[in-house]
Amino acid sequence: MSIKGDSPQKYLIITFGCQMNEHDSEHISGLLEGIGYTPAEDQSDADIIVVNTCCVRESAENKVFGLLGRLGRLKKQNPGLILCLGGCMSQQEHMAPRIKQRFSYIDVVFGTYNTNQLPELIDRTLNSGKQVIEVWPANGGIVEDIPVKRRQRVRAWVSITYGCNNFCTYCIVPHVRGRERSRTPGDVGGELETLGREGYRDVTLLGQNVNSYGRDLGGAVDFADLLHMADGVAGIERIRFMTSHPRDFCDKLVEAVVNLPKVCEHIHLPVQAGSNAILQSMNRGYTREYYLGLVDKIKTAIPGVALTTDIMVGFPGETEAHFLDTLDLVRQVEYESAFTFVYNPRRGTPAAGMTDQVSDKVKSARIQELIELQNTITLQKNRAEVGRVLECLVEGTSRTNRELMGARTRTGKIVVYHGTPEQIGALLTLRVTGYSLTHLEGEVAAG
Ligand code: SAH
Ligand code: SF4
Ligand code: F3S
Repeated sequence: MSIKGDSPQKYLIITFGCQMNEHDSEHISGLLEGIGYTPAEDQSDADIIVVNTCCVRESAENKVFGLLGRLGRLKKQNPGLILCLGGCMSQQEHMAPRIKQRFSYIDVVFGTYNTNQLPELIDRTLNSGKQVIEVWPANGGIVEDIPVKRRQRVRAWVSITYGCNNFCTYCIVPHVRGRERSRTPGDVGGELETLGREGYRDVTLLGQNVNSYGRDLGGAVDFADLLHMADGVAGIERIRFMTSHPRDFCDKLVEAVVNLPKVCEHIHLPVQAGSNAILQSMNRGYTREYYLGLVDKIKTAIPGVALTTDIMVGFPGETEAHFLDTLDLVRQVEYESAFTFVYNPRRGTPAAGMTDQVSDKVKSARIQELIELQNTITLQKNRAEVGRVLECLVEGTSRTNRELMGARTRTGKIVVYHGTPEQIGALLTLRVTGYSLTHLEGEVAAG
């Protein structure tokens, strides 16, 4: 029974994890709005709360467990509240029994392969009054045409592949997202055309390894071909993609970035580690020399390119010398910014069983050193932008200061400036006047 009488039922989605999960949550919004729910302001205002989880590191899981405890207390005050748990964490085999035992008040548990079933599962719990756990072990296909309600007005995410075949030895993603499946060029193209018509200007093509797009479709079309197709879509001004696996970043792709005007000079190229021994033990499929060669090739071919990365410290067997190799590589490449992680053993992955685990103390000292180095480089890079005049796409009001607007450079940096909401969606020429670790400051350039 709803305590809100005839007022519409409201939903809230709480998302953890990567862009792919964020985008899945946009589909969950679409599904919920399709059955009549409207967005809630906050937890206390919601009739249904969906938690879309991540399990890439233990810290992500712990956050979810903490949240579930709080939501349990909320449900005691509001017994009509429906709680749903989905995403990568619930996809793990050992999770369903645990949830049954510890979190019996969660109404619906679903996995990454049956998100589209959510309305039906909600119906089942409402009719039976019982907990419904439905996690499919795997799904060979792709479900198209799931409704979507996008959170942003100017930028949009478009999935091009699901799953991953790489099995890096530390990584849980292939275990919870399954084998790599590519959407057909027709389906991707159709979605891009719609986005262009709807006024989206900046699209990011998403996949765990976008560069291997199309391999499962018989090889007739590859990722560079897909970029060519995307570049021709009316209305869209900018195209980005992530994540690129260095091993599969071929010359044809470099050429596509060079030649296609809408494809931005922004490449996220996770390196993970700077020493060959660790790269090999991670099963990354490339060497330090190969990676640095690729970076040189990209920098030479694409002037002004912004490179960003993911780096991990404390992988099993990482010695001080291996770690110094990582620092040295970071100094050589000079990334604009980096996501830095402490290695965390994940159940069922080969690295979790490796005997030479690094102590927490060493890991935290290394991550500190790495973050300090990268911050110094990021600040230098951002300082070098001051005085430049850049084409920026206005996305909305600034997240940190509502008085200011936020616009994005082709290289993916945010520039905050004095402007008006009418400019949202417009391409403006901004002069950079200031910088910080996280963003640039600017003003509209005269003339
Ligand atoms: N497909 C992408 C990223 C997937 S997960 C890629 O290949 O780069 C995002 C990042 O989380 C990874 O790049 C990695 O740096 C980090 N990560 C994955 N598993 C991890 C683990 N077990 N411990 C710590 N960091 C991890
Ligand atoms: Fe994980 Fe490696 Fe696949 Fe990325 S490429 S999702 S790190 S297994
Ligand atoms: Fe993403 Fe986390 Fe799943 S990083 S794919 S939400 S395990």
